[in-house]
Amino acid sequence: MTRSPTTERLKADAEGISRAAAILSEGGLVAFPTETVYGLGADARNDEAVAAIFEAKGRPSFNPLIVHVANTEAARRIGILPETAESLVAEGWPKALTLVVPVREGSDLSPRVTAGQKSVALRVPLSDVAQALLVAFDGPIAAPSANPSGRVSSTTAEHVLVGLGGRIDAVIDGGPTEAGLESTIVSFLEPEPVLLREGTASVEIEELKRFTTPTATDRPISPGQLASHYAPRATIRLNATEAREGETLIGFGPISGDLTLSASGDLNEAARKLFALLHEADRAGVTKLAVAPIPEEGIGRAINDRLRRAAAPRDA
Ligand code: TXA
Ligand code: MG
Repeated sequence: MTRSPTTERLKADAEGISRAAAILSEGGLVAFPTETVYGLGADARNDEAVAAIFEAKGRPSFNPLIVHVANTEAARRIGILPETAESLVAEGWPKALTLVVPVREGSDLSPRVTAGQKSVALRVPLSDVAQALLVAFDGPIAAPSANPSGRVSSTTAEHVLVGLGGRIDAVIDGGPTEAGLESTIVSFLEPEPVLLREGTASVEIEELKRFTTPTATDRPISPGQLASHYAPRATIRLNATEAREGETLIGFGPISGDLTLSASGDLNEAARKLFALLHEADRAGVTKLAVAPIPEEGIGRAINDRLRRAAAPRDA
């Protein structure tokens, strides 16, 4: 399918979902909301469609994609879930959780999805729109976050259009996403599960708590966990208690700023707003951002992870 110069903006209703499923079936690219962030979806079995994701995002081909499926059964058809993983999903796939497991032999995934590895990242998104799309499409959807590689993730259809408009076929507008930060990624390739990325699920799942506090030095990383990521145009100074000359301050709790993550110090509210504020700063042409300290607890760990990467030195 050739990329259309204009990106269709679809409503999150039955007609929009069925149009989106048809585009995916033809090998097109459709951005869609999940409970975490917007994903840029393609048929995970279609080699050309998956290649088009990497092209639209400018994503390095060594960085594998998460495969989204409708339910645990569909996940088991693609990956081999060890017992520890099975126990996590026994009562339904937890919200915002991605599991890295061995690929099942004979799975019909495009090899580009896993970047040639023998493992696959699997996720069952629970938002109504993502579920409806997976049911209508009736197949696995490969989807990274819907943003140009290295930039800020999208939590609204507007963010998607600003970053990828004209380079993808459609976006389903389901409004702002519920959580605002990406899924938690846990690897089950070793006997003990390993946390690969802090995310929205870490605070919600009891079983995850015991392995969600790795030290910074011994933490294995996902191929995509590059130092600079989630970067707005502005430079970022962390743990700021006040704005210096020329800076726009993002406040939290008692530190009030020009923009605010959460005046009441609510970490979930801060997670929901973080990427939206970074997009807003870009839109306003801000060149220097300073961000108030965020407590390193619960989802605050995921917020700080994103902020550290957003603040990291960039090549370009
Ligand atoms: O919430 C989310 O996870 C969103 C929504 C759209 O599902 N997706 C997302 O995808 O954040 P992406 O591509 O931006 O980040 C996925 C991360 C990357 O760091 C990638 O390297 C890692 O998952 N990953 C994918 N497959 C992997 C694998 N087989 N082994 C290890 N890491 C993997
Ligand atoms: Mg991403």
